[in-house]
Amino acid sequence: MNSLGMRPRGKFIVFEGIDGSGKSTQIKMIAKRIQDLNLKVYPTFEPTAGPIGSLIRQMLSGKIKTDQRTLASLFAADRMDHLVNEVDGIQKKVDGGELVICDRYYFSSYAYHAQYMDMEWVIHANSLNAEILRPDLTVFIDVEPEKCFERIKNNRSDFEMYEKIDIMKNVRINYLKAFEHFKNLEKIAVIDGNNSMEQVADALFHEVMKTINPG
Ligand code: ADP
Ligand code: TYD
Repeated sequence: MNSLGMRPRGKFIVFEGIDGSGKSTQIKMIAKRIQDLNLKVYPTFEPTAGPIGSLIRQMLSGKIKTDQRTLASLFAADRMDHLVNEVDGIQKKVDGGELVICDRYYFSSYAYHAQYMDMEWVIHANSLNAEILRPDLTVFIDVEPEKCFERIKNNRSDFEMYEKIDIMKNVRINYLKAFEHFKNLEKIAVIDGNNSMEQVADALFHEVMKTINPG
């Protein structure tokens, strides 16, 4: 509690990167390190495990056919539910003082859907989400697309819609364009993710702690 008897606002930190860049591996490692400091962390991800997220996953696997505009709109709707739903919405958690770490958020939409439509359209489609909650920090785990492709190939028998090398290269370029576009509005850190898991975890932990304990 602070001097006014109010719980201080928590933090919202987002991990971004192309498929196979190590986001989920790193979120697990960081969550463990933070918990070892006796701090609480709530890890979460998009697309969510909720009804809209499940529909999205069926589209990504090709089980349900869709149009890219519909898919981009569903991601924005899934994100709104992720933010504001009454049970485990991110907004309430952050307002209640929790540290939320999310695997993907609106920069994923900017990077993936700008392959098929104007990035401005995607930014506009997510503007209500951005109004509700901008991350305190977005970390981009930057890994060479060839490396990510190898990692995915070695670990999976089925591939989703975007897991192709040319698409991964385009998505990385779109991420960098989006970061440039928002450099004055968003707090973004680019981390070299080509190194060993432990080295990447050290760099990420350093960056994340600066946001948790500023000054
Ligand atoms: P993402 O969540 O970004 O798709 P994952 O964390 O699932 O990526 O990692 C994809 C694969 O790459 C996993 O098999 C994981 O064990 C492996 N991996 C993750 N980070 C590294 C790393 N720094 N070096 C080598 N392999 C890694
Ligand atoms: P995810 O389960 O995070 O895949 P991975 O662990 O392999 O990175 O995300 C599934 C796919 O959804 C991934 O290819 C990125 C894509 N995606 C979008 O196209 N738009 C979005 O807004 C989000 C959040 C994800």
